[in-house]
Amino acid sequence: MTAQATHPALQFNIKAKCSTTKARCADLVLPHSVVETPVFMPVGTQGTMKGITFKQLEELGCQICLANTYHLGHRPGPELLEEVGGLHNFMKWPRSLLTDSGGFQMVSLLSLAEITEVGVKFQSPHDGSSLMLTPEKSIELQNTIGSDIMMQLDDVVHVLTTGPRVEEAMYRSIRWLDRCISAHKNPTTQNLYAIIQGALDLDLRTKCIDEMVKRDLPGYAIGGLSGGEEKDAFCKVVSHCTDLLPDGRPRYCMGVGYAVDLVVCVALGVDQFDCVYPTRTARFGTALVKSGTMSLKQRVYENDLRPIDEDCPCSTCKNYTRSYLHQIVTKETVACHLVTIHNIAYQLTLMKTLRESIMEDRFPGFVRNFFADMYPDGK
Ligand code: GUN
Ligand code: ZN
Repeated sequence: MTAQATHPALQFNIKAKCSTTKARCADLVLPHSVVETPVFMPVGTQGTMKGITFKQLEELGCQICLANTYHLGHRPGPELLEEVGGLHNFMKWPRSLLTDSGGFQMVSLLSLAEITEVGVKFQSPHDGSSLMLTPEKSIELQNTIGSDIMMQLDDVVHVLTTGPRVEEAMYRSIRWLDRCISAHKNPTTQNLYAIIQGALDLDLRTKCIDEMVKRDLPGYAIGGLSGGEEKDAFCKVVSHCTDLLPDGRPRYCMGVGYAVDLVVCVALGVDQFDCVYPTRTARFGTALVKSGTMSLKQRVYENDLRPIDEDCPCSTCKNYTRSYLHQIVTKETVACHLVTIHNIAYQLTLMKTLRESIMEDRFPGFVRNFFADMYPDGK
């Protein structure tokens, strides 16, 4: 059966495959837009992107971004979202949206979160009252939001956890996936992705994939990574998962956004990524560049009249110098906006050039040049 027959809200049309790595290029056709993959998806909260407007994101060519279910479930809240016809209308973002289920944010942000079979219980950061996020509640909120891609509620343990808790979380994530599938009201207009768990244990990852693939979801995410594990262990899990996941469905590696990781994971066959890193680091005055990072607070930029990157097509690089950004970076919020625009443009340009290299069958050369720019002294 094709994805289209079982999943009317998603098509995943592979356009090119690299002959020596697992990299591939596809058109991911979603209800609100066609997304060319591999894709980096910038992260917003509360229906805004920190340091950049959705209009600017559109102008940069971004086709899909993330919003957070928990924040939006609270404000504007389900009634208002229902009234305006979903989040796309509310925030005037005409392209695709992906929502995370909310539990992960609660567990990682609030030390008070408590996980039981029922769901994730936590204290509201707004008024301290006790709230329970169940798989059913998360799906109800995501159905009201109207995101093109919704994520299941999962039980996430820290990546370096070992012992029975890892297995418990993995099996609970499968049970919660079944509850999410049953609760999902709009399968013809919204896609529910499963999230593979199992920390660094490859056998648990295999068991999780076997079960989740049986449920025949429109897409699959690799969760529970990027929590301080060794690069080698990270790559082994990603590669193991992409070997076992179905070829014809999109694969999304959650919380990954360092340029080096994006390039490596694309080579391992991942199609979608998200991370707060480019926008968060911009707010600290750090710009992303071919050689790594550029801290605009440094005195060396005081009299530097070049843009952040001469080849960057963004409005910041067209209009402002390193010297000017250095002057304002510690004093003005506008500096955060300008660096955020550049950092998003950097991520989107990286993914575009990477896709072009796969389409033109020169991905290995692209990877060599990328690493030569990043580590000019050979690592
Ligand atoms: N964001 C980054 N990693 C994860 C994960 O494992 N699960 C969820 N739901 N969100 C994430
Ligand atoms: Zn730029």
